[in-house]
This record gives sequence, structure tokens and C-alpha cells, in this order.
Amino acid sequence: MSQSADDLLFARATAAMPGGNTRSTVFVPPHPPYAVTGRGCVVTDANGHEVYDCNNNYTSLLHGHAHPEIVRAAREAVGQGSAFGLPTESEIDLAELLRERTGIPRWRFCNSGTEAVMMAVRAARAATGRGRVIRFHGSYHGTYDGVVGADAAGVPQAVAEQSILLPQDDPVAFEHAMATHGHETAAVLLDLMPNRAGLRPVSRAMAELVRKRTAEHGALLIIDEVITFRLGNSGLRERYDVEPDLTTVGKVIGGGFPVGAVGGTAEVMDSFNPLGGATVSWGGTFSANPVSMRAGLTALRLFDAGAVKRLNALGDQLRDELATAGLAVNGTGSLVRLLVDDYPRAWWDLYRAGVLVGTNGLIALSTAMTDDDVIEIGRVVRSVAPAR
Ligand SMILES: Cc1ncc(COP(=O)(O)O)c(C=O)c1O
Repeated sequence: MSQSADDLLFARATAAMPGGNTRSTVFVPPHPPYAVTGRGCVVTDANGHEVYDCNNNYTSLLHGHAHPEIVRAAREAVGQGSAFGLPTESEIDLAELLRERTGIPRWRFCNSGTEAVMMAVRAARAATGRGRVIRFHGSYHGTYDGVVGADAAGVPQAVAEQSILLPQDDPVAFEHAMATHGHETAAVLLDLMPNRAGLRPVSRAMAELVRKRTAEHGALLIIDEVITFRLGNSGLRERYDVEPDLTTVGKVIGGGFPVGAVGGTAEVMDSFNPLGGATVSWGGTFSANPVSMRAGLTALRLFDAGAVKRLNALGDQLRDELATAGLAVNGTGSLVRLLVDDYPRAWWDLYRAGVLVGTNGLIALSTAMTDDDVIEIGRVVRSVAPAR
């Protein structure tokens, strides 16, 4: 039997890379297909197979692939120098836009959500002089040592011991943890709708309780909006009456290029201020590079209040339709989580039928999709995924 183009790439890849690719998060056995092009909401793989992209690089592509205005902005930036050993106006522009949209007064940039979480935790530790971080089971905050599972290979026990892991949305467990450890807690790290925990929004009461108790105990509240920032012009937090001390974002604010950012109060963010004798150093050869900054700025400008509303409405419509057909679905707005037991089989069935989703059933819509595209996506998902 002749080998497909994908299989040939995989054979080459495994000779140079363990497992044949770089991201554990995109691996599906026996091996994931290799993407070749992305245009709008369609991705074509090395075998020439076309799929609706409902993965959108794990939610980061708000406008699908190769949006002409974002491509133009990135090209212009590259043409003027892709990165400098100096700051540029582009990072000021993006910080100002984020400040204007979120009301969060101070920002700094890095290259990924992982780095953003790492720097936020470090700032919280520096600001409080404490070590412990309270987190919630199933919430993914990237791959930094301090926020991965206690049993993750390669993480020293001393680091894992600094985390206290609590069940999601469980006020009793949280009250108990704060009563016992609140005085030694640097921060509580909260994702308002954790994907890996099932994409269920945290209750308003729980979010308010976390804010109240952290303030009482002198601990900081970090809200991780790396995934949820796409749900509103100022993220999912705009639906909660909670002001965090620090917020981490990433993905969509880079317009498809590598990015992360920490936003926060002037007081806490001053931990990074070299004018104020910073206690926390923030480096990153490519942090705030003008290509990511300009592409991100363009993507966010295109994502005005009207675009946010339309995209969220498309997601609500898809979720309702799937739920009515008996499928188990969670999420809100443009983020839909398909709860299917049988991954990776379901992933492959969807892929072969023409829909690319996250390896755990995460669907993220893009503004490149028309109403008809979303109807077709719904039809494909209903025809493939089992009802419960
Ligand atoms: C909530 C959350 N925080 C942090 C991260 C890490 O971001 P990155 O993959 O850009 O390092 C992710 C990635 O999916 C995430 O979902």
C-alpha cells in the first residue's frame, strides 16, 4: 500500500523529533495530520483533506487564518524590523488598547500564556513575600513547573508542595483552605471557565467568595483569561462583579502570533518597574516584538463590540442546536466543549467528516465563519458525535 503524504512526513519527523511533533497538546494517536495551509475558516492538510477549523489554534485565532488586514499588519511590521533590543511604540499601542478595553491600568508582554502565568505568580510572591498558590483541579494554566500537576514528571516535589489544589466551584473546600493556609498564600489562580475541567463557568458566588477571602488574607487574586479573553471586549470577567489584582491573557491578543501578557493594578505591577527598583526582572528576547504587537492590535481592533456579539451568538446557536440533538455540550459564547467519552476516535471521526476540534472536544469559532458555515459544522458534528 502506498504511503500518504502525512505518513511520509511523520516518518521523517520521528527521526528528528520525539513523537514527530513539538506540542504534546496537539498529539492524537497514531499521529496528527500535518497542516499545510489555512485560509479563513478552512485548513488543508498534507493529504489535501480540507476541514472547517473549529480549533483555531486552540482558540487563539479570532478571525481564522490569514485575515488580509492582519497579514498586512504583520508584513509591515516584519518589513520594518522583526524585533529590536529596544522597546517599540507597538507595545504601547497594544497596552493602551488593553487598558482602554479592560480598565486594567498596567500591562507587560511575553511570548505565551505559560510565561504570563509564571510572571503573575512570581509577582504575587514578590508582592506578598509568601510562597503558596491555591489552584483548582482540572484548570490548565500552561506548562510552567509551578502550575502543572503534582505528579508531572520533572517537577521537583518542593515546587509541587507550594500548590494547594482544590475542587472546582466548592466554597466549603475553599473556605477551609483559606482558613488554614490563607496567611501563607501568595495568590489564588482562577480560570472563570476552565476548558480541561469541562468548560463550565465558575459561579458568580464562588468568584466573589474568592475575591473576598483573598483580600481579607492579604493574598492576591490572579484571573487567568488566556482562553476566556475572547468572550468579551474585556474577557469573561465582564460578566462577574470581581476585580482581580492580576490578569493573565495570551492567544487572541497576538493576532495569531506568539504572545502573552500580564495586566494588573499599578501597585502590584510595580514589582516589574525598573524605575521603582523592581524586585522582579522580566526579560524575553522576543517579548513585545512588533510583529505580535501589530498583528494583535489589528485582530483586537477588528474584534469590536459588534463582532464579539455576533461570534458569541454563533457559538450559542451551535451549542443549543447540539444540545437539542442530545449531545452533551458545555461552554458559553464562541467556546463550545463537546463532551464525548471516546477520544481520540471521536476526534478522528470529526476530522474525517470535515471538522477540526481540540483533542478534548474544544470548539472555538472564528469571525471567518458565515452563518451557513456554522450550520454545516453543526450538521457534521451531529452526524458524527454520539448523542447521550
Ligand atoms: C487558561 C490557560 N492558561 C494558560 C495557558 C497557556 O498558554 P500558552 O499555551 O500560550 O502557553 C493556556 C493554554 O491553553 C490556558 O488555556
